[in-house]
Amino acid sequence: MRLQGKKILLGITGSIAAYKAAFLLRLLVKEGAEVQVVITPAGKEFITPVTLSALSGKPVISEFFGSNDGTWHSHVDLGLWADAMLIAPVTATSLGKMANGIADNMLVTTYLSAKCPVFIAPAMDLDMFVHPSTQRNISILKEYGNIILDPDVGELASGLEGKGRMQEPEHILEKLVEFFRKKKLLNKKFLVSAGPTYEKIDPVRFIGNYSSGKMGYAIADELAELGAEVILVSGPVSVSTQKERIKVIPVESADEMYQACIEHFPQCDGAVMTAAVADFTPLNPEIQKTKRGKENWNIELKPTKDIAAALGAVKKTDQILIGFALETTDEKANAQKKLQKKNLDFIVLNSLNDAGAGFGLDTNKITIIGKNNKTVPFKLKSKKEVAADIVKMMISILR
Ligand code: CTP
Repeated sequence: MRLQGKKILLGITGSIAAYKAAFLLRLLVKEGAEVQVVITPAGKEFITPVTLSALSGKPVISEFFGSNDGTWHSHVDLGLWADAMLIAPVTATSLGKMANGIADNMLVTTYLSAKCPVFIAPAMDLDMFVHPSTQRNISILKEYGNIILDPDVGELASGLEGKGRMQEPEHILEKLVEFFRKKKLLNKKFLVSAGPTYEKIDPVRFIGNYSSGKMGYAIADELAELGAEVILVSGPVSVSTQKERIKVIPVESADEMYQACIEHFPQCDGAVMTAAVADFTPLNPEIQKTKRGKENWNIELKPTKDIAAALGAVKKTDQILIGFALETTDEKANAQKKLQKKNLDFIVLNSLNDAGAGFGLDTNKITIIGKNNKTVPFKLKSKKEVAADIVKMMISILR
């Protein structure tokens, strides 16, 4: 149900592809959308309003006034009601009317009043589609900010027959789902912790670990690409990011990472803790470089603060918190314990037993474990793809 609660105006015009609008409508409803169909008079020649109202569960609107009781259909209200308008299929004529403000039917009138994003899926013979007149109308509509779902024009050299057909309903649905998914991250802010920490033994030595920071940087990049602001609290790493929406806060020790995370988390909508934080730090780091000697050198270590658990303890109901777990034994049980202990919304489990997963590599194989023990295993993928999977999961639980 990826469109749960979304209100969609589905405009249908007089094209042979109008039958596909019925499939599209069924897909939208299946995904949980509330759909109001608006059809042009020509559209009704191709598909009956009865089919469409049965599929949408709402009377189809095509005239300014209801034919039975003379109720006025407010195009302004419709335009305000919708989260998105999707006009599929659109004929060359309707494109021309929309681009030039010729509001002689309910659909174009509604289009002109719509305040929401508008998706337009043209359907016509290729020669009509490539005609300068159609192309000019399309560029005008693009300039207005409408999203054009170009028809399938195929290889121009392979002949014109069948080309210019409307995109398949499944494709159109995916575009819409993707659009709403991305929209969810606009104006959101996330904290990401990444990389290792270095715990000083003396001025020239430290205790560190093999974390490269690649996973955390990939998640930060993915969040930023989808429109979120990111505070990336990063231990010493050789990877970098150039994205405008990412603010990198470089830290070295577990304690510095703790301070930075505690400071920024309250202003964020969530946090993803990918950092491999040292669990112990030297109790008394030496001020001077330690000289070679004959004796063994014992370094006393004290535990560091658990950053994820500290954020979990102050997490508000509208914030989400994601953790990572790198385990070598009893993987799922250990990950579940961490999920509980740190008050996480889900935990990403990497198993060192899986080839291709772990420190420094460009690939990762994860299992996501949610609150009610819901377990989703993923295939071995590039860290960029893994980041996309994790961010998708975050979006699905964002309140
Ligand atoms: N974490 C953290 N601060 C710490 C230790 C861990 O924020 N001081 C976070 C990690 O970023 C990760 C999660 O907690 O998201 C789990 O880290 P992990 O090292 O697997 O767990 P620990 O709690 O340190 O347990 P252990 O090392 O004993 O398995």
